[in-house]
Amino acid sequence: MKSYPSIEDLRAQARRNVPKMFFDYAEAGSYEQETLNANRDDMARLKLRQRILVDVDKRSTATTILGEPASVPLALGPIGLGGMMYGDGEIMACRAAQAAGIPYTLSTMSICSIEDVAGAVDKPFWFQLYVMRDRGFIKELIQRAAAAKCSALMLTVDLQVLGQRHNDIRNGLTVPPEIKIRNVIDIMTKPTWAWTILKGKRKTFGNLAGHVKGMENINSLAAWTASQFDPTLSWKDVEWVKSLWPGKLILKGILDVEDARIAVTTGADAISVSNHGGRQLDGAPSAITALPRVVDAVGSDIEVMFDSGVRTGADMMRALALGAKSCIVGRSYIYGLGAGGQAGVARAIEILGKELDVTMALCGVKSVGEIGRNVLAETDTQR
Ligand code: GLV
Repeated sequence: MKSYPSIEDLRAQARRNVPKMFFDYAEAGSYEQETLNANRDDMARLKLRQRILVDVDKRSTATTILGEPASVPLALGPIGLGGMMYGDGEIMACRAAQAAGIPYTLSTMSICSIEDVAGAVDKPFWFQLYVMRDRGFIKELIQRAAAAKCSALMLTVDLQVLGQRHNDIRNGLTVPPEIKIRNVIDIMTKPTWAWTILKGKRKTFGNLAGHVKGMENINSLAAWTASQFDPTLSWKDVEWVKSLWPGKLILKGILDVEDARIAVTTGADAISVSNHGGRQLDGAPSAITALPRVVDAVGSDIEVMFDSGVRTGADMMRALALGAKSCIVGRSYIYGLGAGGQAGVARAIEILGKELDVTMALCGVKSVGEIGRNVLAETDTQR
């Protein structure tokens, strides 16, 4: 995959390989995509400070994430339907992450199940949880993640109702799915993709199938899931999850300082400053503008992670500069998965790591620990 120099090249290849309905699902933001666009635009506005003639010969991007060593301050985030980008996609992505020495997060809405992934990889991975209406099922899911020795639980806290992504409706990725003739033609023109999916272990939501009574196929499971979003969710549910989960807990989807302060009182180990990749509240601020306020309020009390809008190593540098301890990516690696399975994800991780390394060198820093607001151009350190 060396001929793909950037994440953007992997994206272009994924777009060619993967049927439009699945590519668009990963790509989309909600509604008018204002927040999705702000994530990228605000990132690019944040300028880095060029330093010269600093000896940066011995550099390292190594760090720790939740106390565990990581080769880069990077984790792969949870992506629903990952196994529809490439057969056994979640296993491929987890293997690539573990080979690179960074964490991988399996989504509740994955195609491969917790047990499938646990049986196919060597090391513990993280599991992402939605708290659905059926608390009995959620309790079981937490127990399954513990039994599979998942090392952290990432609880998504910004999805009590779903922000609509218009293309999912246009493409028929709805509940129940709409079989459109153009989707069938599209799939027929993607034979490599179809082959990887056919060979894959599963073609349905692996964590749900066989566990939700009477629901076996992808249509009935999708309908069940749509009925399971729970608008009553509250901080009490976070306490409930914490009481059931023996390991590290990450709360994903915090943008507001007040919420960050409450998060600290729950005893969670980390928060992820995130607007769900611009997929939930359209009109919310970009995650990168929210980050410094959250870090100033709680950065010394809890590990702050960052997601939403990281597409380059320079973006990682910006988030670290504003106080994030690590970055979580979604689309950036999913493009690699669609472009070339495990090798594509490995390439995405390599691109981000190398870009961060060069960015560090050109900003005159040799270790992740030296990165702070000092690496931002003057205009930005004064904000
Ligand atoms: C689910 O988390 C989604 O963003 O589709």
